[in-house]
Formats: sequence, structure tokens, C-alpha cells
Amino acid sequence: MLKQRKSIVGLDIGSSCIKAVELTREKYDRVITGYAQIDVPNEAARQDAIAELMRAAKFRSKRVATAVSGKNVIFRYISMAEMSDDKLLQAVRMEADKYIPFDVSEVELDAQKIGAGVDAAGKPDMKVLLIAAKKSIVADHARILTELGLQPISVGVDGFALGNAWELGDQVNPGIQDPGRTVSLIDIGATKSSINILRDNISCFAREVPMGGQDLTNAIARRLGVEPAQAEAMKRDPGEQLSIVQEATSQVLEDLGNEINLSFDFFENQFDGEVQEVWLTGGSALLPFLEESFEKIFEKRTKTWNPIEGLKVKSDNVDVEALNTLAPQLAVALGLAAAS
Ligand SMILES: Nc1ncnc2c1ncn2[C@@H]1O[C@H](COP(=O)(O)OP(=O)(O)OP(=O)(O)O)[C@@H](O)[C@H]1O
Ligand SMILES: [Mg+2]
Repeated sequence: MLKQRKSIVGLDIGSSCIKAVELTREKYDRVITGYAQIDVPNEAARQDAIAELMRAAKFRSKRVATAVSGKNVIFRYISMAEMSDDKLLQAVRMEADKYIPFDVSEVELDAQKIGAGVDAAGKPDMKVLLIAAKKSIVADHARILTELGLQPISVGVDGFALGNAWELGDQVNPGIQDPGRTVSLIDIGATKSSINILRDNISCFAREVPMGGQDLTNAIARRLGVEPAQAEAMKRDPGEQLSIVQEATSQVLEDLGNEINLSFDFFENQFDGEVQEVWLTGGSALLPFLEESFEKIFEKRTKTWNPIEGLKVKSDNVDVEALNTLAPQLAVALGLAAAS
């Protein structure tokens, strides 16, 4: 019983691939004690895929931390009078209908203070990130997990999970993540890209852009006149066709890069600070030329991030080779486990 409580599974239910990482607290460390992932062809196959993944993974724990994302989650930046953290959520609730397009009674709200300043009249105010997720979506997630005999313990959002994975990295490699820096973590999935900006290792900006790997696959299929399945295979393993794949995807990458750049501009205007480096994760970060393409667009140091670097792994229940190869795709799952 005690052993179980020390372990937690971060479950990232992506639109194309479900990823799960189990973290276990041992004496001084948090150790990866389980990992699995499974491609999921469509939403209807999701519950069965989670069941299959859980069977294969043989995790110690049934306690699961998961996240919601996509168009059912809304991020808003608002200014409010300075107040204590415990009053914040209540105050946000009172005003939420001004900011979100859903009925307030239908959403789960969360609020996070992300900076202090003064308003136009010189009174102290603060910047607040408001997150609203449809209750029905959150409940749906919990129901699927409960029906599978799992115990859902938290529902977060992808962007903040990235921040938590980053913090975990800071604990295992102290000093590597310079506290004075402003970095952006970007997870490029299949249908969307999650952006998080951290200043002094604290998340202060999160947003999602509805573009991802699927758009790259579609661009290859269109350009080369092949079926999506073939385009997907070419993208993942282009071999001698690398330059053709690169050419076919260049416009989509440019559009996505420009969209992400708009978020950097927004942050830099609002927070009076510059994003200094960019770290890429998500399945699409496995694309060999992504770093280079984005670095040109962002004009910032841009690298693929391996979020498990420095973490201990118990190898008896983990395919270590797959874990290392696919590590960038696991950032959200790892961060969900790390946060709880
Ligand atoms: N080796 C590879 N090279 C390039 N792209 C890849 C590779 N492997 C997977 N991908 C792409 O990564 C995407 C899946 O990544 P990920 O698991 O992060 O997405 P997801 O979480 O399912 O999607 P979303 O976050 O949008 O819901 C797919 O679009 C897939 O084509
Ligand atoms: Mg994802």
C-alpha cells in the first residue's frame, strides 16, 4: 500500500498517441519505474487503447494524473487588483463571464498569478492567467479512467505539465537551468502545439496553437499525391527522400513557426522580457530538421529537449531503448507525473 502511494502514472491522452510514464519516489530521487505508449487511430478507439496500454505497462500504481487540451480549454491573461492567492480564485470566478465564451457554470476554472505591476492609476495590480476547461470534458476523462479501474487524481493542462517536467529536470541537474533565463518549451503534437514560457523556472505564459504533425503529413500527401498513411511513413523515416519531405513541409513549418513567434511577441510586450531559448518536445520534435527550421524563424537558440536526461530508470519494467529514443514525445506525461 505504502509502495503504491509513492508511485504515480502521468497519462498523456494525445489525439494520435497515448503516452504514460510512472514516477516513483525513492529515498532521495524520483525514478522512472514504468513507461508505455500506443498510437490511437481515432477518438472511438481511445478507451480500448488506454486499457491495452495499461495492461502492457504493468505499472505499480493505479493513481493517474492526466490533462485536457484542445479547443475545450481556454487561456486568458487578465489584470486584477492585487490580492492574496486564496482570494484569487473566488474573485476570478465572479468575473469569469467577461472573459470566456462558455457558461461559467459549465467550466472548471483555475487561476494563477503570473506577475505584479501597477495599473493606469498607479495602484498595484497583478497579471493573472485564467484557465477554463469544460466540466463535461474533465468529467469524461475521469469517467474513462474510473471505468478502467484506475484512480484519477488530477486533471491538468499540457502547457503546465511541460513546465513541471522542466522543474523536475532542474531538480535532477541542479544549476544546468540557469535561474535568470527565460525559456520557452514547445510541444508539437499531432493536432496542436502547446507553448509554455518560463521565467526563473516559473511558468508565466501558456497557449495552444491548433497546428501540428498531422498538418505536416497532409502537406506531404498533397504535394506527392500519396495516401496519408504513406506520407506519415515517409515523414517518420524519409531515408533518401529527406529533401523532398523537407521541401513539402516547409510552408507548414513556416506558418507554425510564425504563429509561435506571435506568442513570443505577446509575451515580450506583456512581460517586458525576451525569450532567450526554445526547447522542442512532442512527437513532431522527432522530425530531424525541425530544430534548424524553427531556429531560423525564431532567431533564438532552438533545441530538441530530452526531458528524461539525468533521471534514474528502473530497467526491469521499462524498454529503456524506446524510452530514450522517444523521450521528447514523453514530456507532457512525465510532467503530469511530476506535478502530483
Ligand atoms: N519519427 C517521427 N518523425 C516525425 N514526426 C513524428 C515521428 N514520430 C511521430 N511523429 C509525429 O508526432 C505526432 C504525434 O506526437 P504526439 O504523441 O506528441 O502527439 P499527440 O499528443 O497525440 O497529439 P496532440 O498533442 O496534438 O493531441 C504525429 O503527428 C506523428 O506523425
Ligand atoms: Mg500531445
